[in-house]
Amino acid sequence: MSRVFINEVAPRDGLQMESCFVPTEDKIAFVDALSDCGFAAIEVTAFVSAKAIPALADAEAVLARIRRQAGVRYTALVPNRRGLERALEGRVDEVNLVMSSSEAHNQANLRMSRATSEALLLELIAQARDAGVASQVSLSTAFGCPFEGDVAHAEVLRLAERMVKGGAAGITLCDTTGMADPASVRSLVRGAAGVLPLERVTLHLHDTRGLALANALAGFEAGITRFDGSCAGLGGCPYAPGASGNVGSEALAHLFRSMGVETGVDLDRMLHIATGVPALVHRELSNPLLRAGPLRKPSHSKHDGDNHDHADRSPAHAGA
Ligand code: COA
Ligand code: ZN
Repeated sequence: MSRVFINEVAPRDGLQMESCFVPTEDKIAFVDALSDCGFAAIEVTAFVSAKAIPALADAEAVLARIRRQAGVRYTALVPNRRGLERALEGRVDEVNLVMSSSEAHNQANLRMSRATSEALLLELIAQARDAGVASQVSLSTAFGCPFEGDVAHAEVLRLAERMVKGGAAGITLCDTTGMADPASVRSLVRGAAGVLPLERVTLHLHDTRGLALANALAGFEAGITRFDGSCAGLGGCPYAPGASGNVGSEALAHLFRSMGVETGVDLDRMLHIATGVPALVHRELSNPLLRAGPLRKPSHSKHDGDNHDHADRSPAHAGA
């Protein structure tokens, strides 16, 4: 059976653009509940300016007080040196360094040029490595920019290669505002395979135009085994007009289960947590899987002469 790994990003990407401030205790309880679901990693918070992202102003407190489950990597988003220093002090397992593939989004989001971000991130990778912490580099707007439109794959791949050569453990290709389609996913992933091993590439998809699951499937078929997902489909970038939720991590887990692909994620537990997300953020969410409930029997088992219900078997928790 093939295996994929899902990183849960709702506590960071999900909560960063909510207009209500989710109390610190509730964030900690949210992360602790997610820790029992079998994710490979959880992005707990962001060490950014509290003026820019007030929703995550309690980053230190959250990271200090979560219960760390063995086998789960606890990560945080970092845009600059001050952010790295705070993250290292908080003992993250890995930092998620971020820059955009397009100039205009980098300026809007990080208020610096791409060239400045690029040089800075290479320094931060080295600084993190000296502290024994691995760096993932998230390349925002890799599939298109809300300000500039198309983004050249060659530029995304140049940045990916440069960061990996500079010591990044992996690259996350981010479809920040849902501009990817299955063909562009296939094509960028094929290109990525030419500059780094695909085990080191993560896809971060938003469902802005309803294509996130189709894009995830295209990525999987092209060789991607790592995906970011956000509980209940929360998420979005406050500096990207039109941004909306990430692909739900429960939707990814459900998709892969239906195909007989192991995710390590306990889907029933995940759905239970996702059901509580509207109360956490004080708004309704439109989520077809939560509305209809999961398929109980994966379609592949109908044809294999096996009457056991694979779907109800509790998958082993990650740890790997
Ligand atoms: N953590 C905490 N505070 C930070 C910080 C960090 N990582 N980086 C900057 N700051 C503070 C500075 O201390 C300064 O505070 P002051 O006004 O009280 O003196 C203020 O933020 C402005 O700092 P400056 O260096 O001038 O940066 P900036 O205003 O150009 O901001 C960013 C640049 C990237 C730090 C800021 O815009 C930011 O944090 N953006 C959030 C990006 C984000 O999370 N986007 C969504 C996810 S991709
Ligand atoms: Zn995102």
